[in-house]
This record gives sequence, structure tokens and C-alpha cells, in this order.
Amino acid sequence: MPRDRHVNRALALQRDPNLPPSLALEPGACPIMRPDGAMKERLERHEAPLPVCPDPEKCPVRAFFASAAAAGAPVELEVGSGYGRFAMGHAAAHPEIRFFAVEQDEARVARTDVASRKRGLSNVGWLAGEARYALEYCVPPGSVSAAFVLFPDPWPKDRHARNRFFRAPNVELVWRALKPGGALHAATDDASYFAEAVAAVDSDPRFERVEPYWRGPDEQTDFERKFLAQGKTVNRASWRKRG
Ligand SMILES: C[S@@+](CC[C@H](N)C(=O)[O-])C[C@H]1O[C@@H](n2cnc3c(N)ncnc32)[C@H](O)[C@@H]1O
Repeated sequence: MPRDRHVNRALALQRDPNLPPSLALEPGACPIMRPDGAMKERLERHEAPLPVCPDPEKCPVRAFFASAAAAGAPVELEVGSGYGRFAMGHAAAHPEIRFFAVEQDEARVARTDVASRKRGLSNVGWLAGEARYALEYCVPPGSVSAAFVLFPDPWPKDRHARNRFFRAPNVELVWRALKPGGALHAATDDASYFAEAVAAVDSDPRFERVEPYWRGPDEQTDFERKFLAQGKTVNRASWRKRG
């Protein structure tokens, strides 16, 4: 499918030879991370036999986690990193961690990759892909110290509700990715989605509620700053994986 002009422009900026090496995790033609319509259907329906990783040796996500493990660095991740303001602020404040940011919008990822290289960050890996598939097929189970889901799309219409991230199958994926004692942090301006998200995680006894993670100005997301400027309330909750 031909790419939009703005995607091509973002990808061209990303290829600037004067920048430090790219931090984007290039999924290439991986049918799981970059599924076509037919593969999406299969992934959504969990149609047996489930797709398997076509070539684990070449998987950039597995390589990212393996390199962190070899260095003894904790891995934290973000689902839907948008323009990456939180990911960059958090990774800059915690050089000891490796931060895996997954965002489905290719242009946003290209721009965050450029921005983080300009900032001199080297501990972030950006993946342009579907977070649910990355969690299910690429992230090693029990490998993540903290997962952030900040201002996820609320999908307010009932007929789109299945797209909301905070549903039992995705809570399960986060649980599987986390280490015992690992944390899940959520924030949203949408009060009804917040109540739904809290109910989805609270109803899983393998998680326990902990003090909400507080993010300072350098860790506020782009959407958060917009909502705060509009006088909206930010709802936050955090959980710990028991065990
Ligand atoms: C409302 S925006 C919030 C972005 C950012 N977290 C912020 O607060 O500025 C939600 C983001 O999640 C991304 N997103 C939604 N569903 C996703 C999925 N399943 N996998 C990866 N990214 C997703 C969207 O493309 C969008 O950039």
C-alpha cells in the first residue's frame, strides 16, 4: 500500500546521515509486527495454528531484550508512545534502563526516533507496530520491570469498544510480559474509560494496587499537556504484579 506523504516525509527525516545511529527497531517485512489485512484477521481471531515468529534470530525486539538482559539492564515499556515525550523524558532520567516504546503510527515513530537521536539518547528502542502483537509474539515473558499505558485511545463508541487496550486479553498480555513485582502504570483524562480500566485490572487477583506513579513535567505526555491546558483532570492508577 502506498504510504502517505507525511509518512514519507517523516521517514526521509529519519534517514538524515548526520544523526547518530537510528534507535528504531526495524521490523522489516515481519508478518506479525507489520501484518497485512489477512494476517490481522488471523491474529485478531487467534486462529489456529497461531502465527509463529518467522525468524526469531532476526527479530529486532528479541535482540533488544537480549541485549538488555546481557547488560543486566531493566527493561520498561510503553504501549502507544505517540510523539514519545514520556518515553524520552523517562529514558533520559533513567539511563540505567532500556526503554521499549511501541506505537502503531509509523510517522510518529520516525519523528520520535529523530528527536531522541538529536537528544543523544541511546537507551530507547522505538517499534512502529501493533503493541498487542509485540506483547504476544515478541516480548519475552517475565522480562519487563514496568509497563506504561498513558492516555490510550478511549474509543468512546460501543461498536469500537473491542479496540480499547484495557480489556482482559490485553491485561493478560501485560501480566505475562511483567516480571514478578513489575508494575503497570495507567493514566487517562477519560473518567469512564479510567473506571473501566481500573475494573479490568482490579478484577485480576494477580495484580495489586499500589500508589499511582507520579510523572513530573519532563515525563508528561503530549496528550496530557493538551488535556491539562484544557483544565481536564488526569486519572492515574498503578498496579504491581504479585509474586
Ligand atoms: C491518545 S494517543 C496518546 C499518545 C501518548 N501516549 C500521549 O499521551 O501523548 C494514543 C496513541 O496510541 C497509539 N495506539 C493505539 N492503539 C495502539 C496499539 N494497539 N499499538 C500501538 N499503538 C497504539 C495511537 O497511534 C496513538 O499514538
